[in-house]
Amino acid sequence: MDKPIIQINNMSKTYQLGGETVHALNNVSLEINKGEFLAIIGPSGSGKSTLMNMLGCLDHPDQGSYLLDGKEIGKMTDNQLAAIRNQKIGFIFQNFNLLSKLTALENVELPLIYAGASAGERHKRAMDSLNKVGLKERAGHLPAQLSGGQQQRVAIARALAGQPAILLADEPTGALDSKTSKEILKLMQQLNELGHTIILITHDLEIAKQAKRMVSIQDGELQENGGALLGDFAIY
Ligand SMILES: Nc1ncnc2c1ncn2[C@@H]1O[C@H](COP(=O)(O)OP(=O)(O)OP(=O)(O)O)[C@@H](O)[C@H]1O
Ligand SMILES: [Mg+2]
Repeated sequence: MDKPIIQINNMSKTYQLGGETVHALNNVSLEINKGEFLAIIGPSGSGKSTLMNMLGCLDHPDQGSYLLDGKEIGKMTDNQLAAIRNQKIGFIFQNFNLLSKLTALENVELPLIYAGASAGERHKRAMDSLNKVGLKERAGHLPAQLSGGQQQRVAIARALAGQPAILLADEPTGALDSKTSKEILKLMQQLNELGHTIILITHDLEIAKQAKRMVSIQDGELQENGGALLGDFAIY
């Protein structure tokens, strides 16, 4: 039996905006097992970023529970959340978020410095991660000396270096052309084959289809398999 790494029960998040209440997440329940590759798909304003902020321990829900690797996140202080986030989550962003003055290797090492790893350990883990994404030979390159796809690979290596419980990718191919997007998705599939748990957030059905499982979100409500909502995404 696969073990759940994420258990979300009846999670809600509302925003107050000019007297109006926005139900950004409405009674969302979601279970994700270790080793899954899950896509969360939804149109603009559906609640994807709100859900990502919860999954990534960047924000608290108003209601409901969130067990990450068996630990309840909902009641943690901001400091506790930050610690859990550094330990458990590897983030991958649309715009890579690499530091331009640091080499690929230094970018990948950075979170390991915060995690308190020794210099030797940092170097080894960062090189192992760069090797996993096929960029060992580019370790000394600055981001500007790398293609967009290579920069995203460095960002993926950085996410991997901390050996997180889950990789959380928010529109990871949004800044890439379609050929490069396919390569990045293939890499994510390979990482999943190696056992990494991956959550991919996107508004693009073609991208979401590359994952093993898909849930859709619309008006803050989640549906397994895209449900009846999927027809609506054809226009995106
Ligand atoms: N800080 C906030 N204050 C008020 N309303 C918010 C806030 N953040 C999000 N919302 C609202 O919550 C809903 C969900 O927003 P969210 O950012 O999660 O959507 P999204 O699916 O990520 O959209 P996109 O694809 O455009 O990034 C929207 O109606 C949005 O206007
Ligand atoms: Mg968003």
